[in-house]
Amino acid sequence: MNNASARASGRPATRLRPRSALVSAVVGLALVATAVVVSSSASAATTLGASAAEKGRYFGAAIAANKLSDSTYVGILNREFNSVTPENEMKIDATEPQQNQFSFTNADRIVNHAISRGMKVRGHTLAWHSQQPGWMQNMSGTALRNAMLNHVTRVATYYRGKIDSWDVVNEAFADGGSGARRDSNLQRTGNDWIEAAFRAARAADPGAKLCYNDYNTDDWTHAKTQAVYRMVQDFKQRGVPIDCVGLQSHFNAQSPYPSNYRTTLSSFAALGVDVQITELDIEGSGTQQAETYRRVVQDCLAVPRCNGITVWGIRDSDSWRSYGTPLLFDNNGNKKQAYNATLEALNAGGTTPPPTTAPPTTSPTPPPTTSPTPPPPTTPPPGGGGCTASVTLNQWNGGFVATVRVTAGASQINGWTVGVSLPGGASVTGTWNAQASGTSGTVNFRNVNYNGTLSPGSSTEFGFQGTGTGPSATPTCTPN
Ligand code: XIL
Repeated sequence: MNNASARASGRPATRLRPRSALVSAVVGLALVATAVVVSSSASAATTLGASAAEKGRYFGAAIAANKLSDSTYVGILNREFNSVTPENEMKIDATEPQQNQFSFTNADRIVNHAISRGMKVRGHTLAWHSQQPGWMQNMSGTALRNAMLNHVTRVATYYRGKIDSWDVVNEAFADGGSGARRDSNLQRTGNDWIEAAFRAARAADPGAKLCYNDYNTDDWTHAKTQAVYRMVQDFKQRGVPIDCVGLQSHFNAQSPYPSNYRTTLSSFAALGVDVQITELDIEGSGTQQAETYRRVVQDCLAVPRCNGITVWGIRDSDSWRSYGTPLLFDNNGNKKQAYNATLEALNAGGTTPPPTTAPPTTSPTPPPTTSPTPPPPTTPPPGGGGCTASVTLNQWNGGFVATVRVTAGASQINGWTVGVSLPGGASVTGTWNAQASGTSGTVNFRNVNYNGTLSPGSSTEFGFQGTGTGPSATPTCTPN
C-alpha cells in the first residue's frame, strides 16, 4: 500500500516485514484485496446524478422557475441532479391560461436550464383533473375532450425532442378500495379519455416516453395500484402507446413506504414498461427518514426497468410539504442524513443498467405484427415488393400533426417514398423520421438512412406537423 492509497482508504500506511514466503504470500493476497476495495471506494461517485448515471439511471428533482435566481438552490441543482421536472410550470393552467393561448415562458426557463447542462426533462403534466385553468374547469363533453386533445397535441408538439418522459395523464384513479376511475370533468367525457390523450401525445412527440403517473399506487395490495396495473396491462394488450408508469411516492404516516414496494415496481415493469419514481418525498427526520430513502433507492436499483428517481424539491423549505421536512437537503442547503443514505445506496447498488428502451419513434407500441388496427391491407404486386401507407391525424383549429405508418408488402423493400396530398392553404412546418420535398400541394416524404429497409409485412412510422388542414386522402407509397 503506498501512502496515496493509504490516505484514500483512511488507514495509515504500514511497513511490511514478512518473515516467510507463506506470510509474504498471505500478505500479498490481502494487499490485492485491499487495493480492490481502495480503488472502488476511491472511484465512488460523489453526487446523486453521477452515481445514478453509473447505473444507467437518472436522479432528478422537481424545480421551480422562480428559484433559478437563488444561487444556493441552483448550485445544488447543477451539482447533484441530472434530470428535472417543472414543479408547476408545465401544468395546464400554466401553459394554456386562456383557451388556445399558450404560454411557455416559465417552462422554457426550466427546459433551457436543463438541456444546456445535459439534464433530462420530465414533462409534467398534459392531462389532469387538477390545476386546470378556469376556462377548462367550466367545460364538459365533446368540447372538453377536443380542448384536452388540442392541449396535449400543442404542448407535446412545442416540446418535441426535448422531453425524456411525459406524464401524459396524472392521477386519474380514485383513492380507496373501489379501483374505479376518479370522477372528473375529463372522466365524464368518456372512459377512453386516457388512451385518447396517450395517442395524441405519441403523434405529437414520437420520441418521448409516455407515462401514466399517480399517487397511492405504491402498495401492491391496494385496489388503486391494482386498477392502474390492469389499465396498463390493457393498454399494452391493445396497443395503446404507453412506455412508463410513474409512482409519485409521497410517503408519510398516512401513506407509508410499503414493504412490498419492490414487488409493485417489478410487477409494473413486467408489463413491459419503464417504472419511474416521480415525486419522491418522505416525511420525517434522522435515521428513520434516511433508512426509508435507502430502501426506496435499493428497491429501484433492484428492478432493471426502474430507470429513474425524482425527488419533489431540493431543500426542505422548497417542499410543498415543508412542515414534514421530507427532502434530502435542509433549509440551508446542507446535506441531510437522508442524502448520505441515498448516495450510499446508489453507490452500493446494482450494476446492471436497465435495458435501453428503444425510442418509440421507429418501434411504436405494439410491434407491427400485433397491431390491433393494421392499416387496410392492399394487395402488393404479384410476387413483388410494394408498400402501403396510412395516416393518423391530430387536427386542431389552424394546425395538425400527422403520423404516417409505412408497411412493406410481400417482399422486403430497401427504401420508400410516400406521397401526401395536402388541401389548399396547408403547409408542412416540420418532419421527423423522413425527408420532405416541398411544403404544400403533394409533398413527397422519403425514408431516412435508418428506416428505409422494411422486411415483408413490417412497418415504420414518420410524422410531420403543419399549419392549416391536414391530409384526408390515403397517401401513396412507392418503394425506391
Ligand atoms: C404540487 C406542487 O408541488 C405545489 O407547488 C402546487 O401548489 C400543487 O401541486 N402530485 C402531483 C404534483 O402530481 O403536481 C403536485 O405538485 C403534488 C402532488
